[in-house]
Amino acid sequence: MIIEALSVFPDVFDAYMHASILGRAQREEIFEFHSYDLRDWTYDRHRSVDDEPYGGGAGMLMKVEPIVHAVESIQQARSMPARTIFFTPAGTPFSQREAERLAGYERLLFVCGRYEGIDERAFELVADECISLGDYVLTGGELAAMVVSDAVVRLLPGALGDAQSSLDESFSASLSHGLLEYAQYTRPASFRGHEVPEVLRSGDHARIKRWRRENSLERTLRFRPDLLECAHLSHEELAFLET
Ligand code: ADE
Repeated sequence: MIIEALSVFPDVFDAYMHASILGRAQREEIFEFHSYDLRDWTYDRHRSVDDEPYGGGAGMLMKVEPIVHAVESIQQARSMPARTIFFTPAGTPFSQREAERLAGYERLLFVCGRYEGIDERAFELVADECISLGDYVLTGGELAAMVVSDAVVRLLPGALGDAQSSLDESFSASLSHGLLEYAQYTRPASFRGHEVPEVLRSGDHARIKRWRRENSLERTLRFRPDLLECAHLSHEELAFLET
């Protein structure tokens, strides 16, 4: 997969995109990442990427020409077309399901907005879709691009050392359509009076499996009851939640 990001701060991606699992995945050529400076597509003396909004109002807007020229030229630099995604609080909410969908593309181009927003014609002309990280406002789309890159890359075959580890976790379909993950423990068995549940040390795999499922259900009921509405639960599990 090729992931590209267009930004007025193209250097902010460097450390994160080269660290840990993302760094290894790049070295192993599972994906490649490139960032581009939006100012390279400005043609005035001040290299301006923003301007005042028509109709008045506070703040500055990102101009349409640099974004459209940049996206077109980045697109044309390779034969494979990129899915062009703009980050804005007005986009589709990001989720594990969205990450799974995006992992199916061979090339993603992320457009990171700054200032108070982007001239609407940039969306009309070059956006395939818009994504929001959530109902809050960031100072720009760069963090959103890194969050989405991270969530997508770890789903690519070979990106995680252990192929199983992205299957069982919170929100994945294998936990019955998105329950929270069960609690996990490692050594020591006892720390400051807090014990690892006995069942996990019992070696009884059927009991462990049931405990984990029940723990997932309890945690979901406590922290994210909204998820239970869409979960596919058995009669026994529904009865368990009633208790
Ligand atoms: N840019 C500013 N706020 C954002 C958000 N919540 N999600 C995605 N991009 C953004």
